Amino acid sequence: MTIKEVSRIKALYFDRFGGPEVLQYGILADPKLHDNEVLVKMTYIGLNFADIYRRKGTYHIEKRSPYIDGYEGLGMIIAVGKNVTKHRLGEKVFFVDVPFANAELVAVPEDHAITVPNDLDDKIIACVGLQGLTADFLAHDLGKNRPNQTVFIHGISGGVGQILSQILTADGVNVYGVTSTKAKQKVALQQGAKEVFLRNEPWLQNWLEHFDTVYDGVGITLEQSIELLKHRGDLIFYGMAGGNPPRVDLVTLLSQSKSILTGDLWDYLTDYWERIARSRRLFKYLLNGSIQISEPTVFPLKDGVLAHKLLESGNNVGKILLKP
Ligand SMILES: NC(=O)c1ccc[n+]([C@@H]2O[C@H](COP(=O)([O-])OP(=O)(O)OC[C@H]3O[C@@H](n4cnc5c(N)ncnc54)[C@H](OP(=O)(O)O)[C@@H]3O)[C@@H](O)[C@H]2O)c1
Repeated sequence: MTIKEVSRIKALYFDRFGGPEVLQYGILADPKLHDNEVLVKMTYIGLNFADIYRRKGTYHIEKRSPYIDGYEGLGMIIAVGKNVTKHRLGEKVFFVDVPFANAELVAVPEDHAITVPNDLDDKIIACVGLQGLTADFLAHDLGKNRPNQTVFIHGISGGVGQILSQILTADGVNVYGVTSTKAKQKVALQQGAKEVFLRNEPWLQNWLEHFDTVYDGVGITLEQSIELLKHRGDLIFYGMAGGNPPRVDLVTLLSQSKSILTGDLWDYLTDYWERIARSRRLFKYLLNGSIQISEPTVFPLKDGVLAHKLLESGNNVGKILLKP
């Protein structure tokens, strides 16, 4: 396909903030290709919580109407800008930090495109992309846990949670977590967690001040997370899938030598070489079989509303992908 043939693309977009119903699927102008960009024909697009925050207007986004949601995906390069040196036509790439990804074609700055290794399946890479790089920086830049330490993960069977749990287990760390259903509990245990509690059962009281590190991407669970930490332990707060966190009393934390660390993946993907080094570190876990990915739920891009509803419902296990 040449760029000319697709001078109009189908995309999922919104022109006002709100619930899933503000999403529209339709035809828009194709992306303009700059000299340092490659044009990617998308095979899979990843859906993330950040896409919901953007749709609701609670996340920083570029002012543009209509706004094409999405930041992550995998596809093939079908055109290259004249200053591009790192990629070539026909190469398969993925990206996790490029706006306007919910479309058939995406203009990707060459430094943001990461080559897909030949020995890994496209769908697996599409599933692990952003959540995998997030789990990697949480485990290795923020957590830095040593073998035999004990950690707790809220939402352990979510996309980030599953990969984080498996990376830490492969690193020799003892992983515990909590989830909402028996089916999700089974997945987390199969992936190597020592014990996985059910959210609606009483489990907390037996585990107070037990963990070296608690990973919390749920938000509303922050007080629980602090209670679960040993003195001198680290709480790693990285998202609010369940709602905004309560205010924290720093003086109480100080008196127990508990620390809170936070981080945003964007601050760890600052240049091309950082993206390459971090993806290689993640790929090693996939190549040696340490990370197993549960089957994703794939929606046609035109059914983006259903995909957003499913992610917000919390009923999905693992990744939701959109297919143009
Ligand atoms: N800091 C970063 O750079 C970064 C990057 C990517 C993602 N994130 C954040 O990471 C978090 C997880 O993202 P994800 O892509 O893994 O999403 P996900 O696959 O939907 O997982 C989220 C998990 O949160 C749990 N959850 C939802 N509502 C809850 C509630 N009310 N109480 C307790 N648990 C609840 C659910 O687990 P159960 O149903 O099992 O309880 C669900 O599996 C999000 O907050 C996201 O914004 C942060």
